[in-house]
Amino acid sequence: MNQVDYLRISLIDRCNFRCQYCMPEGAELNYILKQQLLTDEELLTLIQEVFIPVGFSRFRLTGGEPLLRPHVVELVGAIASLPQTQDLSMTTNGFLLAPIAQKLYDAGLRRINISLDSLEADTFDLIIGNRGRGRWQQVWDGIQAAHRVGFDPLKLNVVVIPGVNDHEVLNLAALTLDRNWHVRFIEFMPIGNEQLFGDRGWVTSAQLRQQIRDRWGLTDSQVRGAGPADVFQIPGAKGTLGFISQMSECFCDRCNRMRLSADGWLRPCLLNEAGQIDLKTALRSGVSTAQLREQVKHLLDIKPEINFKGRDPGTVGTYTRTMSQIGG
Ligand code: GTP
Ligand code: 5AD
Ligand code: SF4
Repeated sequence: MNQVDYLRISLIDRCNFRCQYCMPEGAELNYILKQQLLTDEELLTLIQEVFIPVGFSRFRLTGGEPLLRPHVVELVGAIASLPQTQDLSMTTNGFLLAPIAQKLYDAGLRRINISLDSLEADTFDLIIGNRGRGRWQQVWDGIQAAHRVGFDPLKLNVVVIPGVNDHEVLNLAALTLDRNWHVRFIEFMPIGNEQLFGDRGWVTSAQLRQQIRDRWGLTDSQVRGAGPADVFQIPGAKGTLGFISQMSECFCDRCNRMRLSADGWLRPCLLNEAGQIDLKTALRSGVSTAQLREQVKHLLDIKPEINFKGRDPGTVGTYTRTMSQIGG
């Protein structure tokens, strides 16, 4: 059985983008109210007194958009400075990154994953919901800033959507030729976006790899990480290519993670809502952290039975949370 030691922590469910695949229209109507968010203090208590003692040592900060969380630099510093933290990373859309990249690095963040679904400004605007122009350039500036500051590995996430950005696969892969960047192609998942998914469908990682292999060739490779990507490399390239293939290949049997939502629900599986625990309400009603540790230990024990075992997340029925609320 896999050791479950990786916690994805959603710092906030809000986002300054509206990526069509992640945040369906109207999602903002269900934003978590401020008083329902875990406070910084509650989050740190849970990490130190519950998650670390039961074996978690790798943490990823997600959103919505984690850089919208007030005091994010201080939170990074507090988590990075815990002696038990072996890996701390963040997944961001990069829009607010440029001015804060150095501060995050200085606070102890060493690696970062940034969504970049397109190299074309217009396509980018379309994907992120067309709210204002010029967003691509600002994200690109964020990526450049992360590179300059020294985040390593620096990963770029691409969700491939047929007819939207699949014509850019080779251009995106080419970013790795002369840069030490790690581009990952993610199979599009039907979670809270049934309309778009039904209209567009999805592309397999195998198809993308074939396209890339035909152009440049492709060999096995590796990059530091805790996620489900299969890693390859164009021969001679500086960076790598990752493929996250949850639609065509079930990797649930090697699942090493749980997710904590911004309002304090601990979720054992991205694709199955069974077993979730409301840690925030428990904490606020005086349940001791010793008792919470027992509850989380129990959830760890039963997680293998909760893990999604099918190949198609679309068979789950309804999801009560969107990807933006779960944190990917
Ligand atoms: P690394 O530690 O850098 O490998 O990170 P990661 O790939 O775990 O993190 P990231 O936030 O960049 O996630 C990339 C994609 O992988 C997102 O689309 C996630 O939804 C997907 N993903 C991550 N974990 C899981 C999982 O447990 N199940 C499924 N089905 N998809 C996942
Ligand atoms: N399918 C696949 N990946 C998704 N993400 C968000 N929604 C989906 C989806 N429906 C990805 C984002 C981000 C990560 C946290 O989750 O691209 O990189
Ligand atoms: Fe925001 Fe990220 Fe979801 Fe896009 S993928 S809407 S940037 S949380």
